[in-house]
Amino acid sequence: MTTTSATTGLAPYQIADETFVIPWNLPAPPVGLFPMNSMVIRGAEPTLIDTGAPANREDWLAAAWGLVDPLDVRWVFLSHDDRDHSGNLVQVMEACPNATLLTSWFAVGRMFEEWETPLNRVRFVNDGDRVDIGDRELVALRPPVFDNPTTRGVLDTRTGAYWSVDTFATNVPEPMAESDELPDDAFEDGQLFGGRLVAPWHELLDDAKYQRYVDRVQRLDISVVAGCHTPVIRGPRIEKAFAATRRLPSLDAWHDFSQADLEAWMDAMGPPPEA
Ligand SMILES: [Fe+2]
Ligand SMILES: [Fe+2]
Repeated sequence: MTTTSATTGLAPYQIADETFVIPWNLPAPPVGLFPMNSMVIRGAEPTLIDTGAPANREDWLAAAWGLVDPLDVRWVFLSHDDRDHSGNLVQVMEACPNATLLTSWFAVGRMFEEWETPLNRVRFVNDGDRVDIGDRELVALRPPVFDNPTTRGVLDTRTGAYWSVDTFATNVPEPMAESDELPDDAFEDGQLFGGRLVAPWHELLDDAKYQRYVDRVQRLDISVVAGCHTPVIRGPRIEKAFAATRRLPSLDAWHDFSQADLEAWMDAMGPPPEA
């Protein structure tokens, strides 16, 4: 798999005032691509929201420092410790000596298996906590769908941009900045696929409890949704994305591709080239 900008397909793009997405797209045959995004808030106290994936490190760091001088970065909000979100955290903390890491006790512990997070540069931010970052407040709020127990989304109270982390994940046929580029049916199918993929526990949910849980996020004053694995969601599509997510408790599980599928793909590809 190549990890150059050829797989990114997009340059960083603005989604709200002083708010940018750093995009990448992971090839995911046979379903297309999965976006692998991060976000940057370039306000009075510049803030990185997640740090990209190790496989895309060189391009990710270049894109981030193209948006903000690393010496100006004051905050790094880590949504959770999965590799596609924390993959360049060590490099970021080294490059940004003035940054404080917004994370949690459990995330620090989970990352200790690979690196030691400098605790004197950490501030614990738990679900529901607020952080003043100069010209705005960030509100940490766990999104409806997640694949890691430390997950927290974040709302920028100034722009209404909500970072949904792994919620609203979708496959896309080609790199795209805006989910409006998807037809209605592809948008809904992608949301239902991504939701079941990320959260196979959807079958276990108590529907009434889950709906109240989704309410907690949906009633935020959200103007635009950015997530790691979705093109930006705006306007009427925000309500459609929540509506699809609310259907998860009643949906059958997504069945993973089988060994027979893998063998068929390998046959179609033919023998590997001689070493
Ligand atoms: Fe995750
Ligand atoms: Fe993720």
